[in-house]
Formats: sequence, C-alpha cells, structure tokens
Amino acid sequence: MTQSAGRFTGQTIIVTGAGAGIGRATALRLAAEGARVLAADISAANLESLAQQAPAGSIVAVAGDLTEQAFIDTLAAAGDGRIDGVANIAGITDGWLPPAEMDDATWYKVFELNLTAPMRLARAVLPQMLARGKGNFAFVSSEASFRSSLSGVAYTSSKHGLNGLAKSIAFYYGTKGIRSNVVAPGGVKTGMDTRFRSDYAKEITAPILETAPPSVEPDIIVHSILWLLSDDSPNINGVILPCDGGWTTM
Ligand SMILES: NC(=O)c1ccc[n+]([C@@H]2O[C@H](COP(=O)([O-])OP(=O)(O)OC[C@H]3O[C@@H](n4cnc5c(N)ncnc54)[C@H](O)[C@@H]3O)[C@@H](O)[C@H]2O)c1
Repeated sequence: MTQSAGRFTGQTIIVTGAGAGIGRATALRLAAEGARVLAADISAANLESLAQQAPAGSIVAVAGDLTEQAFIDTLAAAGDGRIDGVANIAGITDGWLPPAEMDDATWYKVFELNLTAPMRLARAVLPQMLARGKGNFAFVSSEASFRSSLSGVAYTSSKHGLNGLAKSIAFYYGTKGIRSNVVAPGGVKTGMDTRFRSDYAKEITAPILETAPPSVEPDIIVHSILWLLSDDSPNINGVILPCDGGWTTM
C-alpha cells in the first residue's frame, strides 16, 4: 500500500463481511490507517482472529447475521451515534443458476444479503450522518453488475440492484454531505463459493470466463475501497468504479 497512514484517524467505520476475503483485508487496512472498525460478520471466530491481527483496540467485533433487522440495529448502535463510513462488502453467490433453474430460496437468500441488508444498514445510519452533514458509503458490487455472464440470475440482479442503491443514496443525499460509491471487482482470490449448480450455465459461460484477466489478491480491491471512503476522492459521488484489470473493455 502506498497511501499515507492515518487517513481515517478518529473515524468509526462499519465493515460488513469483515471475517474473510475482501472485507477482512479492508478492515485491517482501515485499522492500520487509524479507524475504529465496527467489524460485522456471521463468523465470530473469524472476527476474533481479525481483532488479534489488527492494532490493539482498533477492531470492535460485532458478530451476527446481516439478513436480520435486529442485527442491523445492533450494528448501527455500536457506533454510539457516530458512524463516519460504511464499507458494505458481505455478499454471497447463487450457484450460477440461470433464470429457468432459479429456486425461490436461493433468490431470496442472495437478495437478503446482497441488497436488502445494505439498504437496511444505510437506512439505519443515514439519520446520524445527515444530522452531522457528513457520511460515506462504499459498496462492493461486482463485474456481474455490468453484465449477465458471470453468475446466475440472482447474483447478477442483486449486484445490478446494489449499484442502484448506491446511486440513489448519492442522488438523494449528495447535497447534504453524503457520498456513496461502488467498487466493482473482477476476479478476487478469496474463499467465495463459486461452484456451479447448473451444467448449462457452466457450459455457456466457459468461453466468456476464459477472457477474464487474472484474479487479484483482496488487497488490490482495498485500494479502491479506501480511496472512495477517504477524503482523497472529494466530489466523487454515485460512481461505479470497475477494479477489474480492464475486463469491462473486452
Ligand atoms: N471474490 C471475488 O471474485 C469477487 C468478485 C467480485 C465481487 N465480489 C464481492 O465482494 C464481496 C466480498 O466477497 P469475498 O470474495 O471477500 O467473499 P468471502 O466469502 O471471502 O467473504 C464473505 C464474508 O461475508 C460473511 N457473511 C456471509 N453471509 C453473512 C451473513 N448473512 N451475515 C454476516 N456475514 C456474512 C462471511 O462469513 C465471510 O466472512 C461480495 O459482495 C462479493 O459479491 C467478490
């Protein structure tokens, strides 16, 4: 990382999905740059090891299920009335199920975490941000928010929707000191479940996946997330930023 240390000193930032992958790397970097991180994940054990890895006292572990409204309330309240930023990173995949094979359970599960939870979290923290006239959201969507060939219908639709949520926040509250932007990664080396539950999807997406630039380490995505969350990106609002090695140009 080349950025200067301390960009987030004194700030309280929520990071969802902080137990693993991109969320964990984001939480660690925010903590290294001075933030108090409210680290949310369903895995209490992963949050515990995260706290041990970060500077003492920088991580507040808030373990629970983001698809439950009660947990969203607990998470928002953990800021004691001051949340400076939210990195919405938690997300799940859909087994690449195409429209004719999608089941309701997968559809709702994916939407609950990938889209409803970020909306509920934004709804919970916006009043205090608006009262202070300052707040910042970074959402992690996906290359799959631009096209339909990189996942099943639920993931694709939820990530397209997440871009819309981010833009809506920017539109309604941009003049009130709130910024809201998206990072759309290409392939990232994490433990995310990318297994196919559809032979048809596997067959039809294979040639497209062969065109993908190489997957990157989570830290590469963190550069973009922290840039958007920091004061290094003033006047940037409602932007969908691909972080994909140029995949969208192909
Ligand atoms: N890995 C990739 O190639 C890739 C590419 C593009 C976009 N993304 C997006 O990046 C984000 C992070 O993905 P990742 O690869 O780091 O995934 P990951 O699976 O490594 O980490 C996801 C984290 O979310 C947590 N989580 C899952 N369900 C939860 C729930 N209900 N409540 C609370 N926490 C929950 C998991 O415990 C895990 O720690 C996701 O939104 C994903 O869609 C990933």
